[in-house]
Amino acid sequence: MNNIKLVVAKDYNDMSEKAAKIIFDHVKNKADSVLGLATGSTPVGMYRNLIEMHTNSKLDFSGVTTFNLDEYYPISRTNDQSYYYFMQENLFKHVNINPHNIYIPHGEASDIETECANYEKQIDKAGGIDLQVLGIGLNGHIGFNEPGTPFHSLTHAIELHESTIHSNARFFESKADVPKRAITMGIKTVMLSRTILLLASGEKKADILFRTLFGEITTDVPSSVLQLHNSVFVIVDREAAKRL
Ligand code: PGA
Repeated sequence: MNNIKLVVAKDYNDMSEKAAKIIFDHVKNKADSVLGLATGSTPVGMYRNLIEMHTNSKLDFSGVTTFNLDEYYPISRTNDQSYYYFMQENLFKHVNINPHNIYIPHGEASDIETECANYEKQIDKAGGIDLQVLGIGLNGHIGFNEPGTPFHSLTHAIELHESTIHSNARFFESKADVPKRAITMGIKTVMLSRTILLLASGEKKADILFRTLFGEITTDVPSSVLQLHNSVFVIVDREAAKRL
């Protein structure tokens, strides 16, 4: 596992601080870093730490470009459940990032296929992703790449699995309000990132984390593909590390 640097943090806050420090170091080394970002509950504490670093004038986002992993479809950017909205609230509106350097798939694009193809082109044009942040789903999904997604997939449109709709329903008024589709970077898109930062917190992630790092490399567990990447930081809290 030389390609994977595993850090077991004390708890969620410690994991968040350590993850933010990795991003901090990256941006310090390369002011025009291209960051791949993730939504979900896991990275919220890391974003909080990044905002603090910015507020203390230690971290400058003015040269940074970001690409988010995914977005629901269809969804409006003003919908408070859109990932666009999430990113504004949890990071972007609190730091000095240039709005022109923020890329998130358009949940309102009229042609979803064109939007996916353009997203890949935009990533290429930015020079590729330097550091991609990932959370992990209980079934091993990364982004919205559910089990069965081919490892060679690029940014594409997907139908959400029932289990994902169910698990995300807590954020919507009702399960019926969860969009049925999404646009997501593909597994190949993620794997093309130069470095990956995988975060996991809580005992419920212990099993999938074990399968991700030590299980068979299979499309049945999309996150297992990370074993094939040559530079992965895995920062998890003690609860999530229970089976490692
Ligand atoms: P979570 O979601 O951070 O809310 O646990 C992770 C994911 O499903 O990718």
